[in-house]
Formats: sequence, C-alpha cells, structure tokens
Amino acid sequence: MENKNNSAKDNTMEKIISLCKRRGFIYQGSEIYGGLAGTWDYGPLGVELKNNIQNLWWKRFVTDREDMYGISAAILMNQEVWKSTGHVAGFADPLVEDLKTKKRYRVDHLLEANGVDPKGMSLEDMDNLLKEKKIKSPDGNQLGDARQFNLMLKTHIGAIEDDSSISYLRPETAQGMFVNFKNVVDSFHPKLPFGLAQIGKAFRNEIAPRDFIFRVRELEQMEIEYFVKEENWAENFESLREEMWNYIKDLGINLEKVHELEVGDGDRAHYSKRTIDFEFDFPFGRKELYGLAYRTDFDLKSHATGSKVDLSYFDEEAGARIVPHCIEPSFGVGRTILAVIADAYMEEPAKEEGEEPRVYLKFAPKVAPTVAAVFPLLKNKPELVQKARDVFNSLRKDSVLAGRIAFDDNGNIGKRYRRQDEIGTPFCITVDFDTLGENPENKDTVTVRNRDTGVQERIPLHDLTYLLKDALIA
Ligand code: GAP
Repeated sequence: MENKNNSAKDNTMEKIISLCKRRGFIYQGSEIYGGLAGTWDYGPLGVELKNNIQNLWWKRFVTDREDMYGISAAILMNQEVWKSTGHVAGFADPLVEDLKTKKRYRVDHLLEANGVDPKGMSLEDMDNLLKEKKIKSPDGNQLGDARQFNLMLKTHIGAIEDDSSISYLRPETAQGMFVNFKNVVDSFHPKLPFGLAQIGKAFRNEIAPRDFIFRVRELEQMEIEYFVKEENWAENFESLREEMWNYIKDLGINLEKVHELEVGDGDRAHYSKRTIDFEFDFPFGRKELYGLAYRTDFDLKSHATGSKVDLSYFDEEAGARIVPHCIEPSFGVGRTILAVIADAYMEEPAKEEGEEPRVYLKFAPKVAPTVAAVFPLLKNKPELVQKARDVFNSLRKDSVLAGRIAFDDNGNIGKRYRRQDEIGTPFCITVDFDTLGENPENKDTVTVRNRDTGVQERIPLHDLTYLLKDALIA
C-alpha cells in the first residue's frame, strides 16, 4: 500500500481532481460554459463530506461548549464596515502586469518561482528585485511596475450605481462577529471569556486562483472571535491552539503532515500581535491550512470609532468598562476538504497481472459521506435483493446513520467494491444465501468487508448498527 502524497512532482493532484469529478465530489464551477476561474461546485458526495466536516467543527467549537455563541451574518455589509477595518485601503495583494498579454501575476509568486523568498518584503523591495533580476512574465514578456490590487469584490446595492450604493461581498466572515458583538452581549450577557462563531461564505478576487480548491475566489470559512481580558490573552491563545489540534485529530488526518509556523513580525496582518499558521503537506507543497491570530482590541476599537457606537463591555470583577481583546482561530472549509481528500488518497498496486491498481479514499468514518453500502450478492435473485433492501432500510432508520447508508446492486461485487473504495466507504455489507439460511449456522448474518484491509467478517444482523455507530464515535 502506498500513499501517493509525498512527491510534489507526481500527478497526484490530477488524479484527485479527476476522482472528485468522476465520483461526484467536486465539479468545476459553470463547467458547461467553460468554467469560471476560482469557483467550484460541490456534488452529492462533496456536499455530504463538507457537511460532516462542518458539523464536526460546529460540535467541537459551539454546541459542546458553554462559552460559544453561534451566528450567521449577512454576506453583504455596510461599506463603512470595510473602511473601519482597513480592508478598503489595504486588503491587497502585490500585482504585476505582462505588458504584452496584459495578464496579471502575483509578484510574490513570480519571485518564489525565481528562487527568491518574498516573506516580509515591502512592495517597493519586491518591485526592485523584479527589475534587478530582470524577471520576465511566464510568457517571456516585459513586466510593468508592481502595484497593490484590492481583493474585495465590489457590487452596488439598489437601483442607483454611485459611491453611496457600494457594498462588498465580505472577504472574511470575521467581521460579522465583531459587528454583532454588542447584540450578543445585550441579549445573553455572557461573561468573559466567550466567543462568537460562524460558518459561511467569503469572497476574494484572487489574482491567481490555483491548486484546485486551495485558492479560490468564492470560499467558505469557519471562524471564531474569542473575547478575553487583555491580561489573559496568552493562556486563551494556548487553549484555542490545542483545540485546533483536537479538531484536526477529529478529521482523522495524519498529524505528521500538519505543521505550525510562527508568523514573523513583517508577515503578520496589520491587526495581529501574534499569528500561528497551521500548514499542511499538500501534494503541491507545504501550504497554509488554518490561522490562529491574536487580533488585540483592534477590531472592536475600529468599529467603535467608525460606527460611533460604544462597543465596550462592563467587567463586573473590575467594576469598569473595558474593550475586550480577541483571539481568532480561522479555518478554510475548502482547504480542510482538500487536506482530508489528499491525505486519504491511496493507491494499492495490482495483485495480479491484468488487474488495475486499487484506488481508495481512507476517510475516517466520521467524515466519510457514506459509512456503509449494502449489496445483494446477486442482482437477479429477488429474495436476496429484498433481504438486502430490508437491511438497508433498517440501518437507515437509525437517526445517526440516516443519509449515510447506500444500496448498490449494479455490476458484480468486485465492481461495487471498487466504486465504494473510490468514494471512501469504510464498510461494504453483503447479503448472501447464508443470510437467508442456506447454511443454518449463518442465518441472519452478513459479510462485512473492511475498506482498508479488504478483510471480510461474518456479523449477525442485530450487531450491524452498533458496529457502524462505534466506528463513527472512534
Ligand atoms: N479572518 C482572518 C482571515 O480571513 P486569512 O488567513 O486571510 O485570515 C483564513 O484566511 C483562512 O481562510 C485561511 O487559513 C484559509 O484556510 C482560508 N482561505 C483564505 N483565503 C482563501 C482562498 N482564496 N481560497 C481558499 N481558502 C482561503
């Protein structure tokens, strides 16, 4: 058995993208019109995988805790929000234009491709280096001057298109929490420390969307703004850092592929006093998966100034009003999905000549879209099909398993196994003649095949629900 994630030069990404399309996980956005760069659509299995990943997150960070308040804020926000936060003035990437083709490139990406590490460099430094090293565009043409390019997607609200009707599709979900801080405090009177959490869409006009769902223009984030007293920021930062690792464990991905990076002074966002990036070894290299930032009191203070609304909090212990500080764990949904799929992608060489290699997704049962598939051994034996349908329906009745059990009687058993392996189904259950009592010793038992080992076991029907539910808890 071989996990094909190690080499950045192999074609693992192509195989993953092809499997995702073939099996109904992820399709190119607007595909029949030639696509729309940086957008992807989730198919029937992709959406189940996404729901499982989001539900695990919501459970760990919201429903299992008493100090978290879930919200779901509007994507469109008053443009003043983004003026206060500094996004209108400074949420930008450095860009350079090919003077001939007019194609635009990220300056930092061009420098990286030419062996320069651009971390911590100013726009001016990067521009000077491009010129000093006489770096050309990937098409071999002269480049223009480097400039900043704002990543926010702008739109107009209402019938009149003027400056007063400008709105932006939010570039992060975070601000939905800051602008609702006062609402939640007024409704629930939470004691510090407490957090606001949400899962939702965000939009960035990325200059170079790439690497499948890694860098996209329409993304989803799972974010928490956790409010603390200033003097307690470091201990809360640590406990959220630990919870981020626990969530990564929930996903079942190989922890050796996840690495922390302490982000240096010149590379942190303007609002952050400390940032740790969680990086993952993707097939195309080690890249950012999540971020944990100490945002200080920057956002609440900026919004208080911008909105002229008092966003302080009455600290009963101190008997005074304070502006809480904030720790932000931020998770990209798409990057989580890509890490889960890339980590799970396995290829097993063919055992015999003429056989195809076995491809399977070694999903943890918790995230697998389908936990078990039920088959009749033969499609043309009505008594087997009926019994298999009964098993399928009884498993589906269980509220935990509902929606995660499949029925398959297409093709032969070998083909069904291959299909379920490719979508990462941990268990395949086969109803055969023994189940019906041909061999009385095995009456009302079925074979259960384990995806990873290929080993089959006979299990009494009445134990099936427990077996599958135990796998979901593990
Ligand atoms: N609120 C803080 C914030 O948005 P960020 O580092 O810009 O910080 C947080 O983004 C996370 O969102 C990233 O760690 C990544 O998982 C995800 N993300 C950001 N930009 C993305 C993009 N263009 N495509 C996919 N995911 C993205």
